Amino acid sequence: MAQEQTAQTAQTTQQQHLPGIGDLRDPKIRANPYPLYDRMRERGAIFWDEAAGNQGGWAVMSHHLVTTALRDPRVAAERLEAPPSFDWAPEQFRTAVERVFRAMPHQLLFIDPPDHTRLRGLINKAFTPRMVENMRPRITELTNERLDAIERAGKMEVIEDLAYPLPAIVIAEMLGVPPEDRDKFIQWASDFGGFLDSSTLSMEEVLHAIQGVSDFMDYFREIIARRHVEPRDDLLQAMLTAHERDDKLTEDELLANLVLVLAAGHGTTTHLIGNGMLALLRQPSEYQRLVDDPSLIPGAVAELLRYDPPVQLTGRRVREEIPLGDVKVEAGQHLTILLAAANRDPDYYADPNKLDVGRPENRILSFGQGIHFCLGAPLARLEAEIVFRGLTQRFPHPRLAIAEEELEWQPSVVFRGLLALPVEI
Ligand code: HEM
Repeated sequence: MAQEQTAQTAQTTQQQHLPGIGDLRDPKIRANPYPLYDRMRERGAIFWDEAAGNQGGWAVMSHHLVTTALRDPRVAAERLEAPPSFDWAPEQFRTAVERVFRAMPHQLLFIDPPDHTRLRGLINKAFTPRMVENMRPRITELTNERLDAIERAGKMEVIEDLAYPLPAIVIAEMLGVPPEDRDKFIQWASDFGGFLDSSTLSMEEVLHAIQGVSDFMDYFREIIARRHVEPRDDLLQAMLTAHERDDKLTEDELLANLVLVLAAGHGTTTHLIGNGMLALLRQPSEYQRLVDDPSLIPGAVAELLRYDPPVQLTGRRVREEIPLGDVKVEAGQHLTILLAAANRDPDYYADPNKLDVGRPENRILSFGQGIHFCLGAPLARLEAEIVFRGLTQRFPHPRLAIAEEELEWQPSVVFRGLLALPVEI
């Protein structure tokens, strides 16, 4: 069946352009990918897409199949392709490439049981609900400081003034990164984003991103060395203890997952605040509901995550032949899991293209599903709740300060977020 659909699709493609993942390379489509997802969904809940991955793959569109695929033990997270050749690159870069490509496959995102179970268990121990809840007063304090400064300035650039620095400071403090190193760390976190989604970067840019990730790892080696002399009570120390006590977390694993936690904990939350605020600015009556009734805010954060998620898609590789919807996926084939499209599946959500901050929360896919469900989801939600509570209480009538056409989005297919969001308050 898979082969049949492949051949058929290839033939049809020659005749007409079919909507697919390749269209996301167009910045105009990325500015609002949802009409594209609607058209892709017409091709089926799952369909073969020539433009997916390096050799084509299955695009998984529906809420039901996304959930099924992410929970199926035969569907593997280990999927990294062999690294491209960097023979042309100067020697010092090649060392970085070798180190980064050796370490990255150890990240939770790309590993399967039993390694995933062992590592996630260890990191989870360090990332307890108590540790997240303990951050509440500090997140509130940081948010209020930022909002005070915005009030004094009389205007706001949501990304620069709030959405970008806040999650960066929070995760940096949780991991014990000293304030003076924060800017370096923010740059490295962004390099890591480039490494994860290089589809819109040149080879030189990819190389620089890799160098950044390698520097990031060096930096953590130093911080860890300092911790042996001066231990502290924080997330990093808990991860170190797991590493040393049981010797169950190797140095490569530790460093790779530190990079992941720092980078994942930062850009995605920035995008949640930015995308969420934009959605509310476009629908002021929904913003007004939050001004009038702050108890709606936790549910509203879930709805904003559903409506315009920071992580649009993820990938998997199938280990053995499985049926998925009405196709058979063959061993070794890739799945592109369109979380953002599944979040607007009309068979699952009533009126899915409508933002409704009072929507009863039901199984949004923005944090994934199954064993790789986002480790930082409670932290991200806590930060967003505190931010939207602060914004709606202080600024009851904000307005977008630029024309819609001037909004610029990050050049990424996986991550969706604004470069800037100027607002009149
Ligand atoms: C709104 C913010 C966030 C969004 C939308 C988000 C989204 C996601 C998604 C979709 C996955 C699953 C990917 C897959 O299955 O392939 C994931 C995994 C992960 N996230 Fe998040 N994330 C956010 C915030 C955070 C934060 C704040 C942290 C850490 C502080 C974090 C750490 C992680 C880690 C470590 C994983 C890997 C878990 C595993 O593979 O077992 N994320 N995230």
